[in-house]
Amino acid sequence: MSETPDHAAEIAQMSRDGAKTQVETLSAQLERANLAYHQRDAPEISDAEYDRLKRRLQALEAAFPDLAVADSPTQHVGAAPADGFSKLRHEQRMMSLGNAFDDEDVTEFVKGIRKYLGLGPEDPLSFTAEPKIDGLSLSLRYKNGVLVYAATRGDGEVGENVTANARTISDIPSVLEGAPQELEVRGEVYMSHEDFAALNAAQEARGAKLFANPRNAAAGSLRQLDAQITAARPLRFFAYAWGVLSAPLAQTQTDAIARLSSLGFITNPLTKRCRSSVEMIRHYHQIEADRATLGYDIDGVVYKVDDLGLQQRLGFRSTTPRWAIAHKFPAELAWTKLEAIEIQVGRTGALSPVARLTPVTVGGVVVSNATLHNEDYIAGRDANGGDIRGGKDIREGDWVQVYRAGDVIPKVADVDLSRRPPEAVAFVFPTTCWKCGSDAIREEGDAVRRCSGGLICPAQQVEKLKHFVSRAAFDIDGLGAKQVEAFYHDGWIKEPADIFHLKKEYGPGQIRQLKNREGWGEKSADKLFDAIESCRHIPLPKVIFALGIRHVGEQTATLLGRHYGSWTAFEAAMTKADPQNGGEAWEDLLGIDGVGAVLAQSLVSTFHQDAERAAIDRLVKELDIEDAERPASTSEISGLTIVFTGTLEKMTRSEAKARAEAMGAKVSGSVSKKTDILVAGRGAGSKATKAADLGVRVIDEDDWITLAGHV
Ligand code: IVH
Repeated sequence: MSETPDHAAEIAQMSRDGAKTQVETLSAQLERANLAYHQRDAPEISDAEYDRLKRRLQALEAAFPDLAVADSPTQHVGAAPADGFSKLRHEQRMMSLGNAFDDEDVTEFVKGIRKYLGLGPEDPLSFTAEPKIDGLSLSLRYKNGVLVYAATRGDGEVGENVTANARTISDIPSVLEGAPQELEVRGEVYMSHEDFAALNAAQEARGAKLFANPRNAAAGSLRQLDAQITAARPLRFFAYAWGVLSAPLAQTQTDAIARLSSLGFITNPLTKRCRSSVEMIRHYHQIEADRATLGYDIDGVVYKVDDLGLQQRLGFRSTTPRWAIAHKFPAELAWTKLEAIEIQVGRTGALSPVARLTPVTVGGVVVSNATLHNEDYIAGRDANGGDIRGGKDIREGDWVQVYRAGDVIPKVADVDLSRRPPEAVAFVFPTTCWKCGSDAIREEGDAVRRCSGGLICPAQQVEKLKHFVSRAAFDIDGLGAKQVEAFYHDGWIKEPADIFHLKKEYGPGQIRQLKNREGWGEKSADKLFDAIESCRHIPLPKVIFALGIRHVGEQTATLLGRHYGSWTAFEAAMTKADPQNGGEAWEDLLGIDGVGAVLAQSLVSTFHQDAERAAIDRLVKELDIEDAERPASTSEISGLTIVFTGTLEKMTRSEAKARAEAMGAKVSGSVSKKTDILVAGRGAGSKATKAADLGVRVIDEDDWITLAGHV
C-alpha cells in the first residue's frame, strides 16, 4: 500500500522545513509506539494507526530523501520488533526444589539423606543454609571467562534467551578472570523493595500498569523484548548454584560459593554452614527474624548438603535434587468477606468452586479470588469424611481467612462463625453443569464432581483450547486465553485443529477477516498467522501435553514422548492398549516408571472415545511432529532389568537403585527369566541360586561399581 496520489501531491508542495518537522514528529510517534509494543501488554495505538503513521513517514522520506536517517523507524526490518525471545536448551536441566514446611520436615530430610548414604548418627554431615530469594532463576553461560548467553529457567529444559537483557544487570559480570573454560552460573534475579517502590511510583506517574510485587516486577523487567527497558530497571542478581563446568569449582558448596564470589558474583551474606538439623533450624529462625530488614523478598531458607561429592552421590529425583530442600516460611494470612461462591468448569470437566472475595491485601498482593477446592472442603469434611476446621462449613456472606504461600493460588483456610450473617445458608453444590446442563457426577473415591458433557460442554471445549495454547503447550504468540475465548465465542474455533485453519478462513481475501476484528489490524493478524504456521512443527511431548488429557502433565508427557519416540508409535500403542484384557501394549504403558493405572486408563480411554479421537486425528493432520529424544542408550545397562540382593557395603540399596534407573535400567525386586543382571552383595541367598539356575549374569558389588561408574 502507498500514499494516495492526493497525499503525494500535498507532500510535493511542502517546504523542506515543514517536512522536516513532520518527519521528526512521526519518527518520535513511531518510536514511542514501538516501545509500547515491545512491552507487549501496553500498545498505545492501533495497528491501523501505526501503519498510517508509517506510510506517511515513508512518503515524506521518499519526497525528501535527505531527511531519511539511517535509524528511521521505516528502516527497522519489518518495523515490528523481534517476535518474542529465542529459546535456549539448558545443557543441564534446571531443577526446582522440594519443600519443607516445618521443623519436622527438616529433620526428616536430614535423616533421609543419612539413610540414603548409609551414614551412622555420629558420622559428620554438614549443610549450608541460605535465604531462598523470591525472584526468578537465571542461567549464565561463560566461555573462556566471557558471558556468552543468559537464559531463564523456562520449563527447566528450555528457557528464553535473555542475554541482551542480562548484560544490562550490573551484578552480572560480563568478563571473569580465572574462571573455568566452561562455566554456567545460576542464581536469582530480583528487585529490592526500594527499587520496586520507585519503579511503581514512576509507573503510576505515567499512568502505566503497576506491578503486584517485586518478583513480578523483576520478571516483567527481565522479559522485556527491548533490552533498553531492562537496562532502565534496577535488577540485581545473587549467584547460588552452577550447571555446566569444565573443572570443579571446589570440594564443598561453601567453597564453591566463595569461588563464585571471588570471580565477581554477588553471593548471599546470610549463607551459613551448619553441622546438624538443630543448627539449620536455628539459622532458619534467625533469617526469618531478619526478613523484614533485608530489603528484598525471600520466601524461605534453602539447605544444601555441603560436600559436593555427597551431592553427586545423592543426585536427583525427576525434578528435584535429593541433596537440597527449601524450608518455606509460613503462609501469609488475612480476613475478608466471601461475597460469592462461583463454580468454574475446567478442561477435564472438574467443577471447581472459587471464592469471590472483597479484595484484601495478603503479603503485599491484592487477592480477590481464592480456591475452595471441592464440595467437601466447603462442607468442612476431608477426603475420608473426617472434619476439617472443626466441621465448620463455608457460606456466602461469611468472614473467611485467606492465605497465600509464595506464588500458589490463594486459599480459604478458615471461617469466623461469630461474624456469620443470620441469613447465610449452607452452600448447595450443583449436581448439573451450569454451562451445558449435563449431569455433574462424582465418582466413588473422587473428591471432584465432573461435568459429564465431555466435548459437548462449551466450558470444557474452551478450557481445552486455552490449555492447548498455553505456554507449556503450543505457546502461540498473540493467541492467549482472551483471544481463544473471543474466537470460540464467535464460532471461529471449536477445537485445536481449527486454529490451523484460521488463515484459510479469516485471512487475506476472505469475507470475514481477522484484521478487521476489533483490536486487530493487518500487522497483528499477519503476525498471528505466522506464529500459527511456525507452531506446526512441534516436539512430540508438547503435543501429548497440549491434548489436555486428565492426569497428563508436562512431566508425564515428556516421559511418554521419550518412551514412544514418535507420534506414530505413541498413537499405535494407545490404540492397541487394552485395560480390560491387558496385553503387551497395556503392560508396556504401565511399565513406564511414573505411569500408574489411573493415568494409563485416562490416556487410553481418550484414544478410544470416537469424538475425542477424531478431534485428535484432525489436529495431527495439521502438524509436523518432531520425534522425541530417546533416553541415552549409551549406557551399558540401559534397557536392562537389574535385581539387587544381599548387603551392599559401599553404598545403600537406594543409591544403587537410583543410579541404575538414572542409567536407563529397570530395577526389579525379584529374579525371573526377564532379569538381565543380578548384583549380589554380601550374604546373597536364594536369589543368587535362582539366578544361577536361570543362567542370569551375576556380578558382585565391585563389578557393579565398575559398570555403573559410581562411588
Ligand atoms: S538452589 C537444584 N538456592 O528456588 C536446585 N534456589 O523453588 C538449585 N531459589 O528454581 C536451586 N533462592 O529459582 C537455590 N538460594 C537458593 C535459591 C533458589 C531461590 C529458587 C530457584 C529455584 C527455586 C526452587
